[in-house]
Amino acid sequence: MPEFKPKAFNELFDLSGKVAVVTGGANGIGKATALRLAQAGANIVIADLKLEDAETAVKDIKKHGVQALAVECNILKDDDLVGMVEKVVAEFGTINILINNAGGGGGGRENPSKISVDDIRRDFELNVFSGWRLCQLCVPYMKESGYGSIVFTTSMSSINKSPNMSGYAGSKAAVNHMVANLAHDFGPEVRINAVGPGATRTAALESVLTLEIEEKMLAHTPIKRLGEADDIAGAMLYFASPVSNWVSGQTLFVNGGGVQTLD
Ligand SMILES: NC(=O)c1ccc[n+]([C@@H]2O[C@H](COP(=O)([O-])OP(=O)(O)OC[C@H]3O[C@@H](n4cnc5c(N)ncnc54)[C@H](O)[C@@H]3O)[C@@H](O)[C@H]2O)c1
Repeated sequence: MPEFKPKAFNELFDLSGKVAVVTGGANGIGKATALRLAQAGANIVIADLKLEDAETAVKDIKKHGVQALAVECNILKDDDLVGMVEKVVAEFGTINILINNAGGGGGGRENPSKISVDDIRRDFELNVFSGWRLCQLCVPYMKESGYGSIVFTTSMSSINKSPNMSGYAGSKAAVNHMVANLAHDFGPEVRINAVGPGATRTAALESVLTLEIEEKMLAHTPIKRLGEADDIAGAMLYFASPVSNWVSGQTLFVNGGGVQTLD
């Protein structure tokens, strides 16, 4: 049997020289993740709808001494995805890490008697199809480079059962299972995992949070606070880094140990 040589401790989270694309990286969970990956040495591409916010994020990321690039990209548009990947490869030569984080939908407002199939289709386009397509575009570069890690942002809603959530929650549940299957397609060179946040303080959450809802959420949460974007970024860093190099196809829920729902 060949001798197993564990990595030195400082190599476990070392992403020096790696190239990471973070969709929705201009704000919230994506931005916190981009900053953590930059701290670990990765060069960062922020692919986001909001170019101005992406450029601000790039300024913060560069303070970690890495290279960073802002690309305006609507993940719902195939031309944007193809153009973004071409731009990244032209600028950095490859892609090693893909954080499929941009997503969302009508969660909490999805009353089946009030919404249309187009609303549900949009949930799946935003949370499932765009990320799948980006995997397809990025994996060849990852395989060629010899290091590849993909992380999706899924959600606790993918396992919770709540009213008015069927499209958003169903699409996030699809992400968990898709990731588990894609691990077989992309291995051994490329690992793929998902992080499922509980209620995390970002603009997206603040738009639906009330004091009353927060109190109810905390009643079911052993770690008595809501999540911060950086709590989620820690799990993203784990999956992106060599420390998790025998981990693929998994979903890790980061939720203060509890369940936070809007109902
Ligand atoms: N905040 C939470 O409580 C929570 C919980 C579970 C899952 N999530 C998931 O986390 C991810 C990030 O959410 P967040 O809370 O950080 O949101 P956020 O609103 O703070 O940031 C989202 C970022 O994504 C960008 N974006 C939105 N649509 C896009 C598109 N079509 N193309 C490119 N960029 C786009 C926005 O411009 C923004 O910069 C989402 O997938 C969301 O479903 C969030």
